[in-house]
Amino acid sequence: MKTDLLFTFLFIQLSKACAEVLFRSLMENQSMELSCSLQRNLGSLTHLHLYHRGVQHQITLLSMADGGEVRLSPDHRGRMQFRGGLHSLHVNVTISHLEHSDTGLYMWELSYREMDNTDLIHSDTKVFLLVEGTGT
Ligand SMILES: *[C@@H]1O[C@H](CO)[C@@H](O)[C@H](O)[C@H]1NC(C)=O
Ligand SMILES: *[C@@H]1O[C@H](CO)[C@@H](O)[C@H](O)[C@H]1NC(C)=O
Repeated sequence: MKTDLLFTFLFIQLSKACAEVLFRSLMENQSMELSCSLQRNLGSLTHLHLYHRGVQHQITLLSMADGGEVRLSPDHRGRMQFRGGLHSLHVNVTISHLEHSDTGLYMWELSYREMDNTDLIHSDTKVFLLVEGTGT
């Protein structure tokens, strides 16, 4: 319970710092879907990353590159599914059988190459997930 309070506190701090954080609270074993809209007016999309920032570390859950290369975090491969790609309107990720360690901040990062060849990094809405135990 103490850690849950800590996360609630962290979340409040985060919401103050950044208005674009959605808070979701789910139980262990439930599934979470994350959706990212790909904007076409910012140039051509070269990379997409989905990061998870937990208490101690940050990992890359999913990365996609222009050439079609897709990487999934080996630790999540069995529980994670994605739909869509760099040329679709959305990339959606479902993480099933949630564990307490899935608690944390989920961040999408999109890299676009503009007409004049400059690179633009764009962050989509962030989701803060709290995975609660079933109490058993
Ligand atoms: C999670 O789901 C699995 C398979 O559906 C089940 O065996 C397990 O008891 C569940 N765990 C909890 C904590 O609900
Ligand atoms: C992805 O999620 C968005 C928003 O929830 C939905 O509108 C879209 O149909 C989904 N696309 C796929 C391929 O699942």
